[in-house]
Order: sequence, then structure tokens, then C-alpha cells
Amino acid sequence: MSMQKPTGTQDLLPGEVEKWQLIEEKARDVCRRFHYKEIRTPIFEHTELFVRGVGETTDIVEKEMYTFQDKGNRSLSLRPEGTAGVVRAYAENKLYGDPDISKLYYVGPMFRYERPQAGRYRQFHQFGAEVFGSTDPGLDAEVIALGYAIYKEIGLRDVTVEINSVGTPEIRAVYRTKLQEYLKPMLGELCRDCQSRYERNPMRVLDCKVDQHRFADAPSVIDYLDDEAAAHFTKVQSYLTAMDIPFRLNPRLVRGLDYYTHTAFEFKAAGIGAIDTIGGGGRYNGLVGEVGGPDQPGVGFGLGLERILLVLAAQGVELPAEPQLDVYLIALGDAAEAEAVRLAYELRGAGLKVDKDYTGRKMKAQMKSADRFAARYAAILGDDELAQGVITVKTLATGEQTAVPLGELANYVKANQ
Ligand code: HAM
Repeated sequence: MSMQKPTGTQDLLPGEVEKWQLIEEKARDVCRRFHYKEIRTPIFEHTELFVRGVGETTDIVEKEMYTFQDKGNRSLSLRPEGTAGVVRAYAENKLYGDPDISKLYYVGPMFRYERPQAGRYRQFHQFGAEVFGSTDPGLDAEVIALGYAIYKEIGLRDVTVEINSVGTPEIRAVYRTKLQEYLKPMLGELCRDCQSRYERNPMRVLDCKVDQHRFADAPSVIDYLDDEAAAHFTKVQSYLTAMDIPFRLNPRLVRGLDYYTHTAFEFKAAGIGAIDTIGGGGRYNGLVGEVGGPDQPGVGFGLGLERILLVLAAQGVELPAEPQLDVYLIALGDAAEAEAVRLAYELRGAGLKVDKDYTGRKMKAQMKSADRFAARYAAILGDDELAQGVITVKTLATGEQTAVPLGELANYVKANQ
């Protein structure tokens, strides 16, 4: 039986994986400048963490988690998102005792049992950031700016931010009732999902792919903000304006996770079809307490790496190519072969990027490989050269050849960068 990868997963092969490395590198570099530190948390957690953190009535928890029983009969789940685990680690490790390590970032795989399509996978990857310990609206703006700066650094064009305030739980309780009043008369005509969400999580109804068009005149949570929540939201927007970050107010933005309070936002990119949300996040002032920690506010985002790659391809953004090989070693004969194995190790130790053939092919075939790898030099070692203690160095760009003493090869290549 030939094995295939599970539906909704990807093999990232050489040629593609370099793009991932570059994107991660750039994102890390931006995080360094914003003074965020990396955190690595487990890929699986107790199921209860996500039920409590992400929310019992969310699609993620109701339908999409990879949940399993381990041999000790614990219910565990592959993480469907990064925030809950980071919040758990923040509380468990008492990071709140040290305000200097409250700005965190992470990168890694997440798992959701969703219907796969372009830009939607069952194993996907997020680059995320979470910050704790302050309700300052300047921090909401900083977090949005960090996400925006990452996209910019990677080279994405025309990224915009959609932003909303979903208020506090108290505000939402009032809004919920108003929304239910609005939805009630049309309830019979709505899809089955909407009908069940009507009771359990009415704000999610507004997000329904099937019925969304019916809700043009639905009340918005933003109309129910109290003075404090409204002032917070106004300040976030004024900071974004001051930083020249393009944003659009979207009173319909509700997000698919339950933990948000106040600011909720999404990053959008044009040109990749219907699934144009490339990242999302917001503030979550109750979540740390919800998972058993102290009452500490938080704010963060997650960017989908697969979607960044889609946008890069759609916008034709060229990423810099891998640096070429410095030397491709070509050995002819057993004694030369043995010396070439040693020499490759020596050159690599000297910091050079070096490879050689291990399939015993003819000189011509090996030269072809050197060309294919765009090596700067092909270095040819035969019995004659070996007897004289030299190696023939060919500059592939010009075809020039010269004999270099074996012990001098590393210096020669380095001197002629
Ligand atoms: P989310 O909106 O569920 O938020 O996911 C964030 C991003 O992950 C999405 O905008 C998208 O780019 C990517 N994504 C989500 N699901 C998939 C999928 N099935 N395939 C490919 N990409 C996907 C969160 O996960 C929150 N934890 C974000 C956050 C952090 N909020 C506060 N802090």
C-alpha cells in the first residue's frame, strides 16, 4: 500500500521550505525590534483548556478539534490555536510576577478539522504574539502595528486592518438580548447552524456564510459600548492613525473565538479569493482568569503562514534566492575520492558552502551538478593533482581554471568571494 499524507496537510519540500524559513526569520527579526521574546508551548494540551479558553460554543471546540484519549485516559487535544496554551503557560509559570517578560511570540503548527480548500488546511501554521499585564490602548495599537510590520517586512502589499470593539462581557450581555430580538422574527428562515447559535452564541450568527446577507440592518455591538469602552476604542484608532497604519472600521467583525473583549481585528489582503483573512487577533481581558490565573489582561494576534505564502505568490513577490554553493568538489579515482571527503569537511569547517558527488558518476555528469547548483567553483581532484598536492579550481562563471595547493583551497575561495 502506498501511503499518502492525511487530507489537509502539506509536505514542505526543499525549494518551498526556504520561503518558510525566510518568512519566519523576518517575523522573528521584527519581534526582536519590538522587544518580544519567544515562547514554545506544547502542541497538545488538556482538552478542557480549549473548551474553557476558546469557548464551548465556538466552531473550533464544537467541530474542529483533534481530540484523543491518551493511555492514562486523559482527554487531550492538538492545539487549534496558540493563545490558550500561551495564556496557560503564562499563568502556570507565574510570568505575571515579572513584567519584563510579558511580551511573547510563537510560531508553529495548529490543527483544525476544517474542510480543506485554498488557504485552509487541517494542519496549518501561525506566527503569533501575546502580551499581558496592561489595558493600555497603546498596547492594542502596538500589537496591531507588530502584525502589520511583519507583513510589510516580508514584502506583502496592500494589507489592511479591519477593526471593531466587542466591548466587555456586560456590554455583550445587553447586546445579545437586542440581537436576539432582531433575529427572532426571521429565525424560521435561517440555516440550522444559525438556529442553534441563536440561543448559544447569537453574535456568531452574524458571521454565518449562508445567511450573512440578511443581516445588513442588524444592531452592532459598537452601538452599545459604554463610555469607557468607547474611549478605549477611540484611542486605539487614534494611535493607528498616528502610525499611518491603514484600517477600516468593521462593526460586523465578531471573530470565531469567544475570549475577546474590546478590540478585535483582522488583517486582510486582496487577490487571494474568498479566504482573504491573513491574520486576526484582539484583546482578551478575562482569559487569564478563565484558565485559573490571576486577573491579568492580554492582547495578541495570530498570522496564518500558509496565507502569507498565498499572497506572496498572488502578488508575485520574489524572495531572495538561497546563496549559491561555494565549491562543488569533483573527485576522480579512489584516492582522490577519499581526499575529497576529508576536504569537503575541512572547507565546511572554514565556513564555506560545499558539496560533492556520492554516486560515482563520470566527470561530465558531476560538472553538470556543479552547474545546476550554481556553484561558484568546481574543484577537480584526480590522481595527477593528488600526486602534486594541488586541486584544479574552475570558476564556473568564466570557465577560467587554475591549480591551487590543497591546503590553500579554503583561503583561495574566501579571498575570491
Ligand atoms: P484565528 O482567526 O482563528 O485566530 O486564526 C488566525 C489566523 O490563522 C487566520 O487569520 C488565518 O490566517 C490562520 N488560519 C486559521 N485557520 C486556518 C486554517 N484552517 N488553515 C490555514 N490558516 C488558518 C486565532 O487563532 C487566535 N489565537 C489569534 C489571537 C491571538 N487572538 C489573540 N491572540
